[in-house]
Amino acid sequence: MTQLPSKIFIDGGVVDETRQAREMLGYIDGQTTNPTLIAKNLSSKLGGGKLTSQDATNEYKRIVQEINQIIPAGSISIQVFANKGTKSEEMLIQARERNKWIPNASIKFPCIFEGLKAAEIACKEMAINITLNFSQSQAAAVYEATKGAKYPVFISPFVGRLDDKGENGMQVVSHIINMYRQGDGHVEVLTASVRNLDHIFYALQLKSNIVTIPFKVFKEWADTSFKQPEESYVYSKPELKPIPFREDLVLGKAWQEYDLHHVLTDTGVERFWYDWMGIVESSLTK
Ligand code: E4P
Repeated sequence: MTQLPSKIFIDGGVVDETRQAREMLGYIDGQTTNPTLIAKNLSSKLGGGKLTSQDATNEYKRIVQEINQIIPAGSISIQVFANKGTKSEEMLIQARERNKWIPNASIKFPCIFEGLKAAEIACKEMAINITLNFSQSQAAAVYEATKGAKYPVFISPFVGRLDDKGENGMQVVSHIINMYRQGDGHVEVLTASVRNLDHIFYALQLKSNIVTIPFKVFKEWADTSFKQPEESYVYSKPELKPIPFREDLVLGKAWQEYDLHHVLTDTGVERFWYDWMGIVESSLTK
């Protein structure tokens, strides 16, 4: 197989999937996790039971450490646990703790004001990944907030969740890559929320730095012998509403000046919180 233009990550919370994926492709460059994926894995074993908040976090740590055994050189994204009221200081405490779990951690912060405030400091101390990105404007803010980073910075546009709303999510990836051409290249674009093979093909054609793939879609791709798009490949989704490129968005302003709001970011933060709380004893989470 010719070398792929993007790094390949697995998006999941089940250790055995990472093992199988590595066997199928021969390598895996990294993994993304999130509270929903980890909670799903744990709840399948809890049979309706709950964990204390500390035990749930310890389980997250254990899963990440097991994944690290399978891909010791791979970057593994670990998310801070936040809702819309969580302050940057609290996110930083969690980030510093999670960053000690494994040597190649990349700490995920949500693409909200407090998340970027934390990321601005964290990027001088550890690798980071800004999650729940849905717009070019948010990506401009991420670029500026992490300027001068001393460790790798990823941004994760969630394409599938935009598609689910009838909008062309892959266009956000394309627009961010175009806009970042004005910049210094310090932010890597990680195509996330992948739902199908076309997402993979277009991410590869765009040379997205990374694409993270859920195991189910990874297996479909394996069935094609990890096909890559032809040069003539066109990502055409007339059923999805186009998201126009914002020529007016230029890099170079203070990050707080860009519009950070996106409804899917807000609902995404809530959903991660809700899913995690689903496995935690309520009396211990107040
Ligand atoms: C990325 O880091 C996220 O874990 C992920 O891609 C979310 O995708 P979803 O929209 O399928 O939940």
